[in-house]
Amino acid sequence: MDQIKWAVNQMPASDDAQLPVMSLENVAKARAFHQSFPQYAVTPLAKLGGMAQYLGLGGFYVKDESYRFGLNAFKVLGGSFAMARYIAEQLGRDVSEMTYDYLTSQTLKDEFGQATFFTATDGNHGRGVAWAANKLGQKAVVLMPKGTVQTRFDNIAREGAKVTIEEVNYDECVRRANALAEQTEHGVMVQDTAWDGYEKIPAWIMQGYGTMASEAAEQLEADGVKRPTHVFVQAGVGSLAGAVVGYFANRYPDNPPKFIVMEAQAADCLYQGAKAGDGKIRFVEGDLATIMAGLACGEPNTISWDILRNHVACFVSCPDWVSAKGMRMLGAPVKGDPQVVSGESGAVGMGLISTLMQSDEYKELREAIGLDENSQVLMFSTEGDTDPVNYKKIVWGE
Ligand SMILES: Cc1ncc(COP(=O)(O)O)c(C=O)c1O
Repeated sequence: MDQIKWAVNQMPASDDAQLPVMSLENVAKARAFHQSFPQYAVTPLAKLGGMAQYLGLGGFYVKDESYRFGLNAFKVLGGSFAMARYIAEQLGRDVSEMTYDYLTSQTLKDEFGQATFFTATDGNHGRGVAWAANKLGQKAVVLMPKGTVQTRFDNIAREGAKVTIEEVNYDECVRRANALAEQTEHGVMVQDTAWDGYEKIPAWIMQGYGTMASEAAEQLEADGVKRPTHVFVQAGVGSLAGAVVGYFANRYPDNPPKFIVMEAQAADCLYQGAKAGDGKIRFVEGDLATIMAGLACGEPNTISWDILRNHVACFVSCPDWVSAKGMRMLGAPVKGDPQVVSGESGAVGMGLISTLMQSDEYKELREAIGLDENSQVLMFSTEGDTDPVNYKKIVWGE
């Protein structure tokens, strides 16, 4: 069995210039925007008390994003908010005016017209962009990498987007979508990652993810947990991780939780950067073959990296078995605990946390992050069974 690898963060800190992207004020605007949708509901925070006891933790909570807007993943939060902020900017207005009712009104059509939003996706982000474009009367073009499963393709096509599967990996799809957006009149690239010179829209996407983090913080407080001691978050390009880490660092500036970032071993670019230790980004290339399709990204988001290098305690590179184990544990919980249907990119936290608590092989890592019976642990199940065939294969052995 391949080993879990980790790098305790010893990178030199930067000036932390990106942390204000995830200010409480910015996230409150995203939350208000999402709340204006008729489909909006706070997703459940599953309290796994039996599991916490079984593993020897003080508390264990799983934010269940399989309930998000009926889309089975959290990603729509980012694309939709970025689209709203883009439209607001074009109209010279504040995003607080961009409610669902306004964005779907005739006034908006007259004032703004129709844009075409381009994006590349392994599934969830593109579905979110296609869904939001469809709901808001805009157009979407979505490029998917080779190896994409049919269900994910169909879910995007069903939203009326123009969608293709390309013969290249995710990072190459991003470049193609960007080129297409540049060639198209009123074409806008809405990508969930940043690179030098492309920062505004990904920052808005990260703020959109803040809705999920702010809901979780409030749900914890309502359950008597003033703040989590440990936050585990998974990463592809790291936009989600940067959003979650940035939000919690801003919410608890004097006493932040310990942040642990997890990646698929086949695409562990953030871990490679942390291991190198100089604060510079590292790329992972090739097919990035992993069951964690949403985490199969080899080129980090530059904004997010800056937040992560300053605030994360430890970067962990996880083989596929970690996620498969997490899917099974969340799907068949300790008696009395709620079940969480968690897909390949959603369950890696469960697999890692349980392995750390149960196996002395990883004692050093467990102690490095101080995970014990006093820990109040939060993780994010960022998707449900977005690949239902593979989900059953892994969980049921079908
Ligand atoms: C379900 C799921 N979880 C986590 C992630 C990782 O997000 P990011 O690429 O921002 O690191 C993704 C990305 O597509 C995803 O689809």
